[in-house]
Amino acid sequence: MIDKNKLLAAIEAAGTLKDLEAARVAALGKSSELAAALKTLGAMPEVERKARGAELNVIREAVEAAIEARKSSLESVEINAKLAANPADVSLSYEGARRGKIHPLSQVQDELVQIFGRMGFKMAEGPDIEDDWHNFGALNFTPEHPARDSQATFFIDADHLLRTQTSDVQIRAMEENGAPIKIITMGRVYRCDWDATHCPMFHQIEGLYIGEKVSMANLKGCLEDFLKAFFETDDVPMKLRPHYFPFTEPSVEVDIRCTIENGELKIGPNGKRWLEILGAGMVHPQVLRNVGVDPEKYQGFAFGTGIERLAMLKYGIPDMRKMFEGDARWLSYYGFDAGDVPTLAAGLSRR
Ligand code: PHE
Repeated sequence: MIDKNKLLAAIEAAGTLKDLEAARVAALGKSSELAAALKTLGAMPEVERKARGAELNVIREAVEAAIEARKSSLESVEINAKLAANPADVSLSYEGARRGKIHPLSQVQDELVQIFGRMGFKMAEGPDIEDDWHNFGALNFTPEHPARDSQATFFIDADHLLRTQTSDVQIRAMEENGAPIKIITMGRVYRCDWDATHCPMFHQIEGLYIGEKVSMANLKGCLEDFLKAFFETDDVPMKLRPHYFPFTEPSVEVDIRCTIENGELKIGPNGKRWLEILGAGMVHPQVLRNVGVDPEKYQGFAFGTGIERLAMLKYGIPDMRKMFEGDARWLSYYGFDAGDVPTLAAGLSRR
């Protein structure tokens, strides 16, 4: 007969984790009484086997539970002993610890949220892995449309891709909330590109404003206000140049008059060149139809641009690729101190 109490007492008596392991082997191991008893079950008639099997199981479970309980109490004894032997010196000074910096991309995103938040835009978000409908189809890129080629794309399967533009969120937001709507969206987008001003992953900001009387004049005013606030200057000479996007009609690219010297951007009427800064246009009636918004009743504009590009221009950063290398020296040069940055929470409310 197995003496359950004796087994439990041996476990309780174990003073260290090592003793406990020995007690476990003695109680449950291959040469334990319990193992031997379990082996005899096979030869017993069924009725007896069931009864005896149940009895043995009760013993095993009790022993296992006792081992677990003893183990956790021994572990805490060991941890407490270690802590007592090596008390932490909480008076150690932090001098010399390096302070982190805010990445210019985070800084610029916070600035954008602030500016558009003040203009009444709410924030909307979408997934990085998008389906063909939201990234292309609903935005009026038909399956064979040549404009798809200009966004050399990372497909995951026939219907899913890493989104090439944040315009997908226009579609998602209007499918969900219809019109009127006034949102911005920011996030990662992906294209097969790689040079000093293009990376396979970059960030875009996109705005969408649909209402009953939203016109191209509102688009121009909105972009002008934005550019003045972002570049912190009172005069931003701006030119809307005809362009083509499948999802806007008419479409424009927006150029600003400026000079870039030694990485420094000077915006103003005396600038030496026009610099492309944004894509924009009036949302195509077919796009509105695709999301169930009546184009006879509603109209509006959308605009979009790269956040890296905005950061590079404003803060004189020459090579986009360095932004993603995680080099602490780069960040200590181009980064911002935490106190300088308005927080996201102070900006616009999430949708
Ligand atoms: N999605 C366009 C691009 O990635 C930019 C854009 C957004 C243009 C909104 C017009 C309106 O090139």
